[in-house]
Amino acid sequence: MTVLDTRLSPRPARQARTRHYVMCPPTHFAVEYAINPWMDASVPVDAERATVQWDVLRHAYLALGHRVDLVSPAPGQPDMVFAANGGLTVGGRTYGAKFRHPERQAEAAAFTAFLRDAGHDVVDPAHTNEGEGDFLVLGSMILAGTGFRTSLEAHVEAAEVLDRPVVSLELVDPRFYHLDTALAVLDDGTGDAPADIAYFPGAFSPHSRRTLRDLFPDALIVSELDALVLGLNAVSDGLHVVLPSAAIELAGALRDRGYAPVPVDLGELLKSGGSVKCCTMELHA
Ligand code: ARG
Repeated sequence: MTVLDTRLSPRPARQARTRHYVMCPPTHFAVEYAINPWMDASVPVDAERATVQWDVLRHAYLALGHRVDLVSPAPGQPDMVFAANGGLTVGGRTYGAKFRHPERQAEAAAFTAFLRDAGHDVVDPAHTNEGEGDFLVLGSMILAGTGFRTSLEAHVEAAEVLDRPVVSLELVDPRFYHLDTALAVLDDGTGDAPADIAYFPGAFSPHSRRTLRDLFPDALIVSELDALVLGLNAVSDGLHVVLPSAAIELAGALRDRGYAPVPVDLGELLKSGGSVKCCTMELHA
């Protein structure tokens, strides 16, 4: 019956909405410390290649008609290229970041200064949180990860600051240490099509898996193979899904669901445990 129902349900028409992104050039990018299992300071990083790959991503967004603003990279902050971690902005209000590891803590002030200069009302957080690494906006609600970086207290604080309901999800596999490595918002549900997400269930605790199943019974379930190339670290505008090129199976599944995959290779940034979404902060309207 389920199979028949799925076949009969019409595929929603996908629609792109123009987005406003913030990125940070990988000028000082390096793997100098290890704060997640992907990082190994003894593996060399090709800085030039990282810059080319990052620039291809930036141009992909521009070609899709999106706005991309740039934050100045700070010397001594090799992870600042992962702009998603710099805060969570919804409707002109920003819940500022407070990084878990001392190595990244100075980034928060740089992102906050940039956002304040851009006219955003940035609220300084009391609790540890890594911005859009662990907070994903889905229509009026926010999906929030905890377990490795962002604290549960920060979920409550974000809900208060941004006046949005927050759904807490517990991450249990250190390879997927941020929510945006384990779950991707494909359609935020603000247009005609219903909200749509993709995720790798193995990254979540049993009760969070249950939450995801209940909230998103039709979600795209992603294999460990695709998750392990950070395939879920993707950015969707509602139609185009920019994702790591190694996530081959996922690209096919997205096509079947009516999306247009835009594969990019961010292999150098993967050495730090980051990919497309990590490099992209979205300023949500
Ligand atoms: N090396 C960085 C860290 O461990 C990577 C951050 C990736 N960002 C993200 N949004 N998942 O903090």
